[in-house]
Amino acid sequence: MMTSSGPIRRVALLTSGGDAPGLNAVIRAFVKTARLEFGWDVYGVEDGFEGLIGKPKIRPLDLSDVRGLLPMGGTILGSTNKGHFSSFEIVEGRRVHDPAALNAVCETVRKLRIDGLVVLGGEGSQAIALDLYENGVPTVGVPKTIDNDLGGTDMTFGFHTALWVATDAIDRLHSTAASHDRVMVLEVMGRHAGWIALYAGIGGGADVILIPEIPFTFEAVADKILEREAHGTEFSIIVVAEGATPAGGTAVYQSEHEKRLGGIGQSVAEEVQRRTGKETRVVVLGHLQRGGSPTPSDRVLATRFGVAAAKAIAERKFGQMVALRCGQLTTVPLREVAGIVRGVPVDSDLISTARALGISMGDERG
Ligand code: F6P
Repeated sequence: MMTSSGPIRRVALLTSGGDAPGLNAVIRAFVKTARLEFGWDVYGVEDGFEGLIGKPKIRPLDLSDVRGLLPMGGTILGSTNKGHFSSFEIVEGRRVHDPAALNAVCETVRKLRIDGLVVLGGEGSQAIALDLYENGVPTVGVPKTIDNDLGGTDMTFGFHTALWVATDAIDRLHSTAASHDRVMVLEVMGRHAGWIALYAGIGGGADVILIPEIPFTFEAVADKILEREAHGTEFSIIVVAEGATPAGGTAVYQSEHEKRLGGIGQSVAEEVQRRTGKETRVVVLGHLQRGGSPTPSDRVLATRFGVAAAKAIAERKFGQMVALRCGQLTTVPLREVAGIVRGVPVDSDLISTARALGISMGDERG
């Protein structure tokens, strides 16, 4: 094993997968804690794990390098959801990555004498972090994704900002929907989990929320629109998660090959217009949900995670991911979260709250 019991001197961090608001805030908090509290040398790895394959792409990070980062979107280190680890096989429920790529990363970490490697990423990146840990790399994970679909933690950083953007979009769509007596369909991100759609739908007062965890029927969606009309409300707002699926159907992909979701909003809009006769428009919010400055809530969560990651290294809690559980920071074993997508529990009070308000989840006919 590469993990040693000697003193910690050099640590590194990388950002992996799609960017999320708060990545820079984590980098800042980690560097400040590592430098000020522990006196370690800190290195930033560029372009995720790719920066540790072949000629290392790393740069030292000191306090002056992280000044002003707290409100900045994106990641100063660069990231990718492509590269050597993007294809893998699943064997007995676990991802099996390219052994040559794993070895290359291990070799680079060993050569650079890195005593702790922090991985900011979602479930896929944490699966890579776990594989590296099991091959001797002292990794610590930090849960990142706007989708909030990572297990082991109550919340990931980036989610709150995406939610804010989606809720604001619903507010804006309301005025056009009401002025024109239209149905407005908003497609939001979230991969195969409905967290963004559900939270934003409740927060923005949507009439229909469609999430991957609850297959929907077009009949039920149309019923809701017509029921509202029968009660004198001529407009409706539908929020649909990109991974939502009609009962008995399959998810809609923009690119089947890349498994890139997108397009369900258009199908919902077309079917609603056809079945209700109401003028319908669709808005796909897309990457606007990932961009820009993190909300105060995400800045605080990212900062807590950054500090916690440094403390986890100091305590040699390798093979763990920092997490938020019941409002408290803790760590969870990577093997409990790696590669596992956490969907919205169908018995969640969020769903019963939505239903109690008369919001249709697209599964019950009016
Ligand atoms: O995981 C974050 C996310 O934004 C998903 O919500 C979305 O499905 C995907 O990434 C989009 O990825 P890309 O940036 O590669 O289009």
